[in-house]
Amino acid sequence: MTAAPQHEPVMLQEIVEALGVRHGGRYVDATLGLGGHSSALAAASQPGGRLLGIDRDPNAIRIASERLSSYGDAVVIARGEFADIASICDERGFRLVDGILFDLGVSSMQLDMPGRGFSFMRDEPLDMRMDPEGGMTAADIVNTYDEARLAALIWEYGEERNSRRIARAIVARRPLHTTSALANLVEGVARHAPGGRGSGGRGPERIHPATRTFQALRIAVNGEIDQIERALVDAEGLLGPSGRIAVISFHSLEDRAVKTFFRDRARDCICPPRQPVCTCDHRATLREISRKITRPTEAEVARNPRARSARLRVAEHIGQAA
Ligand SMILES: C[S@@+](CC[C@H](N)C(=O)[O-])C[C@H]1O[C@@H](n2cnc3c(N)ncnc32)[C@H](O)[C@@H]1O
Repeated sequence: MTAAPQHEPVMLQEIVEALGVRHGGRYVDATLGLGGHSSALAAASQPGGRLLGIDRDPNAIRIASERLSSYGDAVVIARGEFADIASICDERGFRLVDGILFDLGVSSMQLDMPGRGFSFMRDEPLDMRMDPEGGMTAADIVNTYDEARLAALIWEYGEERNSRRIARAIVARRPLHTTSALANLVEGVARHAPGGRGSGGRGPERIHPATRTFQALRIAVNGEIDQIERALVDAEGLLGPSGRIAVISFHSLEDRAVKTFFRDRARDCICPPRQPVCTCDHRATLREISRKITRPTEAEVARNPRARSARLRVAEHIGQAA
């Protein structure tokens, strides 16, 4: 018998508080996953609340639909990409909502499910698609991109200092079809690179040498940075008065995109810094709830090590409805 898929929602209580969830409120969970956050948002908004859950992974949709079925019409579930959040919400009557959650990245279920290709800890096809029914796989990318493009991708999305060496080795040894083939190749490159023992940092935080390359490919396969940048712009337009956006990110590239968006929208003037008089007419539309990011407690990280790199940012809509 196989165990039921699991995913422990990160900073659950913090999210319910950050979104100020109230009875009768309307909420969107743009990253439904297994429905952990959605369950808490749906429960805290009853009676009278409504929740729309979105995910691109059909397995997540199936599992979360069952888990949330007791809420009946109060919970609506949609399969799609959150970059399309505006049309998904419009089609289901979810405009002017009180809160929107993005819990970025992959779920534990996706990491643990055999055959998805996200993990170098198992030997399986090099896939990494959150939606396994469409788009390029990681194997398509490593086997077709030219060396310069591969190196740029591994550098930009993986912040991997051996990116050029890894790209050269991939091109020399492809086709590569499995997670193990790629992980072994990266490990070999790291072993022979100057400095010798790999690219995984120093001290107790050392990571497997293939971690950054796998992260880079996963981000590229799923268009993750582009998705969040597009989604945030449209999410703002869905907020009602004092509606809030909460984003949990797990690596610096995601967090940078969120931080940049929130800071730009929180400024009254976006003229160049040396310009003496403001001519832009820009007005702030969001207020960051706190300049500081919220991180999980030590107790949460001890209970759920996958929470350790999580960072939460929250912003509130100000002024007129967008
Ligand atoms: C970290 S998990 C969310 C877990 C969820 N909060 C829970 O409590 O179970 C992220 C989920 O978002 C989905 N996802 C990531 N990027 C997406 C995108 N651009 N569009 C739609 N779903 C996305 C993934 O498929 C995954 O199921």
